[in-house]
Amino acid sequence: MILITGAAGKTGQAVIRALSKRAEAVRALVFRAEQVPIAEASGASEVLVGDMRDASTIPDAFTGIRALYHIPPNMSADEISIGRNVITLARSSAVEHFVYHSVFRPQIETMPHHWRKMRVEEMLFSSGLVFTILQPTAYMQNILGGLDQIQRDGRYRVPYGTDTTTSLVDLEDIAETAAIVLSGDEHVHATYELIGMDAVSQDEIARILGETLSQDIHAETQPLDAWARDARSGGLGEKQIDGLVKMFQYYEGYNFKGNSHVLKDLLGREPTRLRKVIIREISQRHAR
Ligand SMILES: NC(=O)c1ccc[n+]([C@@H]2O[C@H](COP(=O)([O-])OP(=O)(O)OC[C@H]3O[C@@H](n4cnc5c(N)ncnc54)[C@H](OP(=O)(O)O)[C@@H]3O)[C@@H](O)[C@H]2O)c1
Repeated sequence: MILITGAAGKTGQAVIRALSKRAEAVRALVFRAEQVPIAEASGASEVLVGDMRDASTIPDAFTGIRALYHIPPNMSADEISIGRNVITLARSSAVEHFVYHSVFRPQIETMPHHWRKMRVEEMLFSSGLVFTILQPTAYMQNILGGLDQIQRDGRYRVPYGTDTTTSLVDLEDIAETAAIVLSGDEHVHATYELIGMDAVSQDEIARILGETLSQDIHAETQPLDAWARDARSGGLGEKQIDGLVKMFQYYEGYNFKGNSHVLKDLLGREPTRLRKVIIREISQRHAR
């Protein structure tokens, strides 16, 4: 049995699907009762509800599991205490393999949500647990969330310069890698940077979007204060906004470049290209 935390989120659902394809039994830990059907629909055979901030609500999730895939909540100020809770429970239930869903370049202190993951990685090093750390770069799926608006406006808007280069990765490739790593002990004590493609500018991303969607699309910089206003009215909290603004400023200042060699080696094939991810998304939308 493999336990997945943060299981009803977009990463969790993808990882459960990838493990189900390999006929692995999955226990999903979700945050709210309404999320139980989401984890079941992805293929989890057991689903438990609990709050990782409060260790007393989640011990049952750790009973009888062989491995654990820990997905922390997105942009959570509690990520370190959540990491501590999950590591403590994994130790006391003698989990054989702890796999941590971290982030590419957790060492960057000016991005608080990256730095918090660095501290959780550090806790793992001294935990005595057998672990693997996956460090995915930004998902291509982050762009797909705004696809309707991009198609409507013919604009791909980002809150940093359009010449800023970023390396992206397909979430489905990350999920497949997680399933490979979780299925055996070949990858224990490894830390993998997971990058799907060479860094490209936002202008280049707009060109790929335009070519794939057969429409004129150009990249445009949205001023940070306008982005924050939109994020606030969309319901995002101030701490999350602050963390994301710091990330955007970092991207603009230094770019976010990685190398896809490790992911290619783990998958045994080329990582999925952005063009293919856009086409897959559109065909899934048509099928719904
Ligand atoms: N997006 C990217 O490009 C990217 C790249 C690299 C790494 N990551 C990392 O991947 C992780 C997962 O991201 P995601 O986009 O999959 O997040 P997500 O969709 O928000 O999923 C996180 C899940 O955790 C649940 N959750 C929140 N607080 C919880 C708590 N206290 N106890 C138990 N569950 C809780 C959430 O429930 P609610 O929805 O009810 O809050 C949600 O179902 C994040 O740590 C992120 O930093 C993301």
